[in-house]
Amino acid sequence: MSSRSTRSTRRRLLLGAVALLALALGAGVALWSGRVAPPKGYPGLGGDFTLRSSTGPVSLADFRGKAVLLYFGYTFCPDVCPTTLATIAAALQELPQEQRDRVQVIMISVDPERDTLDRLAEYVRYFDPGFLGVTGTAEEIEGVLKQYRAVAMKVPNEKDPEHYAVDHSAHTYLIGPRGNVLGLIPYGAAPARYVEALKQAIEH
Ligand code: NI
Repeated sequence: MSSRSTRSTRRRLLLGAVALLALALGAGVALWSGRVAPPKGYPGLGGDFTLRSSTGPVSLADFRGKAVLLYFGYTFCPDVCPTTLATIAAALQELPQEQRDRVQVIMISVDPERDTLDRLAEYVRYFDPGFLGVTGTAEEIEGVLKQYRAVAMKVPNEKDPEHYAVDHSAHTYLIGPRGNVLGLIPYGAAPARYVEALKQAIEH
């Protein structure tokens, strides 16, 4: 790995950490520490949205009764997204089938310019055939980012304009069977943390 890409990774992770801290402080949301949110959840954070997948529209409300892991990213992401999706896939393997059936993983692409619906579908299926990739227009994505107080920022690449990066929030939202945010799982969490979070969320 070149020092340039190391620096770039460090910058991205720093941005993610700062954004996560701001979100947690602003919304009073606890980082996942083994306990789900109080029954009322975190009023004002999250909520329903409708975006598109390769097989049609997808709404968060389609998954009532299931626990949802919601993640913002993009398929050209060199490190953070693949690491997180692989960790979540490993966590799901730890769940008994009956519980796995009650979990939906959704990745929202914040790079609709390059992430076509087919590319996105192929990308998430590489990690787990059940993962859903969704995206929308830049305006639609901006709206969902606001709802979830997440951030995504295009980083231009002057030498090679098509190969730009997108800095983005790197945490995962744990959403309960009634559609409310139960907690945030920070980037770098081990599979066991997702397993524990999902088991509690399913019963929430
Ligand atoms: Ni990423």
